[in-house]
Amino acid sequence: MAEKNIRLEVMQAIEHKVDGFMNQFLIPVEDIWQPSDFLPDSENDNFLSDVETLRGESKELGYDFWVTMVADTITEEALPTYESWLMDVEGINQHDGKPNGWSKWVRAWTGEENRHGDVLNKYLYLSGRVNMREVEITTQHLLTDGFDIGTDRDPYKNFVYTSFQELATNISHKRVGQMAKKKGNALLGKMCTIIAGDEMRHHLAYREFVKTIFGEDPSGMMLAFADMMKKKIVMPAHFLRESGGVVGEAFENFSNCAQRLGVYTAQDYVDILRKLNVYWELETVRSLNDEAEKARDYLIKLPARLERIAERMKFPEDDYRFKWVEANGML
Ligand SMILES: [Fe+2]
Ligand SMILES: [Fe+2]
Repeated sequence: MAEKNIRLEVMQAIEHKVDGFMNQFLIPVEDIWQPSDFLPDSENDNFLSDVETLRGESKELGYDFWVTMVADTITEEALPTYESWLMDVEGINQHDGKPNGWSKWVRAWTGEENRHGDVLNKYLYLSGRVNMREVEITTQHLLTDGFDIGTDRDPYKNFVYTSFQELATNISHKRVGQMAKKKGNALLGKMCTIIAGDEMRHHLAYREFVKTIFGEDPSGMMLAFADMMKKKIVMPAHFLRESGGVVGEAFENFSNCAQRLGVYTAQDYVDILRKLNVYWELETVRSLNDEAEKARDYLIKLPARLERIAERMKFPEDDYRFKWVEANGML
């Protein structure tokens, strides 16, 4: 209970900084890109021929690529889960007469994120390379199943999670974009790269929130960070399933696919952790209690330990076929 009060006090103490964070890390609604900037313009007479070009370019991309694109899209489309989760975090309050700074952040962040699922979904639909009904069923399943990322309502743990996760999505969108570009699909390459740019800004913001909390409550923040890493950071779509499947089954198959393609790997996980340790200056955080000192030790040694495990991991080819993407026409 006492710990909860400290966290609430810290969230209140730094709330006045949130407007500044929004100015620094988010882009005003009327200045930021929109899905229409990248997709064929349906008001234009060239629409159908533009769609044909898009479909032609999509033929160059193979089965594994589309599976990854679909899973990335569905992860973005489950945004209602993430917004409702964050709105429920201690210190984030949209009630009591007027929304506090933190809830304004969550809304503005959600507004930016919503464009990702929107543009990817429309692209997938136009590409003609995926079974949209199966994609939609998986999306609805994922929203229904929700997630459990092990953060409770603790803002410290949630901001560790989002710091980590935004960088993970940055990496995976960026790599998918590079693959598309390599296969001559410049439009899709550009789209994924610009999404990756948003994810990077979000990552920079959340890691700043954590850094600010380290300044206020170093021991509490250190313990929350260690706790999250002990549990491991699960992906937001860890409950992914296909029609007729069981909760989480499709996620495992997808994550093997992403490992094989090199879109997001165990080594990336280690690299993210290393970057966070450096940015939060773990080695020099002061005024830690005994328990937090131990947590620091654990965190500093963790990247090397995980790296040894990552090196031993093997991801063999499997013959699993997702319903989202037709197996025929595989490239
Ligand atoms: Fe996103
Ligand atoms: Fe994101």
